[in-house]
Amino acid sequence: MMEEVESRATPVRRAAPNSAPTAVPLSEVGPAVEGRRPTGVGELDRVLGGGFVAGSVSLLSGEPGVGKSTLILQVLMAAAASGRDVLLATAEESAEQVRLRAERLGALPPRLLVVADTVLPDILSVAREVRPDIFVVDSIQTVYDPELESAPGSVSQVREGAGQIVRLAKQEHMTTVLVGHVTKEGVVAGPRVLEHLVDTVLSFEGETDHALRLLRATKNRFGSTGEIGIFEMAEAGLVALADPSGVFLADRRAGAADSVVACVLAGHRPLLVEVQALVTDSSTAIPRRSFSGLDGARVGLLAGLLEKRLRFSFGKRDIYAQAAGGVRLTEPGSDLAIALALVSAETEIPITSTLVAVAEVGLAGELRRVSGLRRRLSEAVRLGFSHAIVPSTVEDSEIPPGVELLRMPDLASALRVSGLPAGTGA
Ligand code: TYD
Ligand code: MG
Repeated sequence: MMEEVESRATPVRRAAPNSAPTAVPLSEVGPAVEGRRPTGVGELDRVLGGGFVAGSVSLLSGEPGVGKSTLILQVLMAAAASGRDVLLATAEESAEQVRLRAERLGALPPRLLVVADTVLPDILSVAREVRPDIFVVDSIQTVYDPELESAPGSVSQVREGAGQIVRLAKQEHMTTVLVGHVTKEGVVAGPRVLEHLVDTVLSFEGETDHALRLLRATKNRFGSTGEIGIFEMAEAGLVALADPSGVFLADRRAGAADSVVACVLAGHRPLLVEVQALVTDSSTAIPRRSFSGLDGARVGLLAGLLEKRLRFSFGKRDIYAQAAGGVRLTEPGSDLAIALALVSAETEIPITSTLVAVAEVGLAGELRRVSGLRRRLSEAVRLGFSHAIVPSTVEDSEIPPGVELLRMPDLASALRVSGLPAGTGA
C-alpha cells in the first residue's frame, strides 16, 4: 500500500480560445514524416527498429546497477559526436560523476550538455532554452516538482513529472528518454505507472554480477517488440555481443543428461540456447515447479502431455527447468527442446550434444512447424550442430546444407530418435 496525496487539479491549458478541435476525413490527414535516426548504438537500434523516432518519448527501465546510465550516456555521446545537440538532466549523479563516466567511455563531446538538478520545473526551463535533439532525464524517480504536495519519488510525483516532460517533448518535438528504476521486489512508483504515457518502453536486464545485458522493448508504438539487444558490460562501457549463441553455449557440458539445445528466433535473430532441467523426488506435499527463463505454463503443459500421452509420472517429482544465459524462451519453437530436456532429466539418459530440436508441440503430441526454420538451422550449422529434429511436414526448401534432419511426426518418435524411452508405461 502506498499513500497518494491528491494534488490540485492541473489547470486545463488551451493554446488559443478558438483552437477547438475539428474532425477531418482520415484521407486528408497529411502523412507523418517519420524521422527515425540511428542512435549509433547498433543493438539499441535493432530493438527500436532503426533508431529513435524524432519527438518520441521512451522509458528506459531496469534494476539499479544494470547499466541504464551507461547505455544512455553512450547514446548521447554518439549523437553529440555526430553533430547533434543533446542534453542530459542528471538527478542522481553529479555533473562531475557524469564526466568521469564519459571519460571512461572515451570522449567528452562539446555538444553534450549536462544539467545536474532535481527540481523538475528548473530542468524543464533549461530544456526549453537549449531545445536539444535528444533530452534525457536520469532518473524520473529522483526529479520532483515542489508545487506538488506529495513526496519526491511517490506515485503522483512520478506520474505528474513524467506528464510534464512528455508535454514539453511533444510541444518542442524533442526526442526524449526517461530513465526509471524497477526493483526486484516489485515496483513502487516505478515505470509501470508511466507505460501508457510514453511511446516506447525499453527494459534493460541482466545480473549485475555477470557481464551479459539484454535490452528489449515491452512496448513500441513505432515498431515490433520481438527484437532483443544483447550487450556485454565491459571496461569501457557496453559493447554488442558479437556471437550471442556461442556465448550462451560456451559453458555447456557435452553429454550431460538434462540439457538440450533449442533454436529460437528473437525477432529476426536466430539464437541457440541451452535448456536445462532437473527432476528429483519431492520432499514436500506439493511438488516444486520452478522455471527460469521459460514460460511456466508452457513447461507445465509439456509435462502434462508427457504424463497423459506417454505415461511419465511427475506427480511426486520436483521439476526445475531453465534457459541458460538469461534469455527468455517464450517462443513455441523451444517446446520440443523443453520436452526432451524433461525426459532426459527424468530418465537420466543424456542426449547427443550435436543435436538441436526445433518444433512446437501440439496438444495431441504432434510436432508442428515453426517460422524461419532455415535461418534457425543455419545458425545451428554454424555452431557445429550436425543433426536436427524437426516436424515431418518440413519442406526441403527450408533446410540449409550441412545438417542432417530427423523428421518426426510426434513427441514419442522424437524421444525415440534421441535415444530416450517414449514413456515408462508405453
Ligand atoms: P550504471 O549505468 O550506473 O547503472 P544504472 O544507471 O542502471 O544504475 O552502471 C553500473 C555498473 O556498470 C557499475 O557497477 C559499473 C559498471 N560499469 C562497467 O563495468 N563498465 C563501464 O564502462 C561503466 C561506465 C560501468
Ligand atoms: Mg543510473
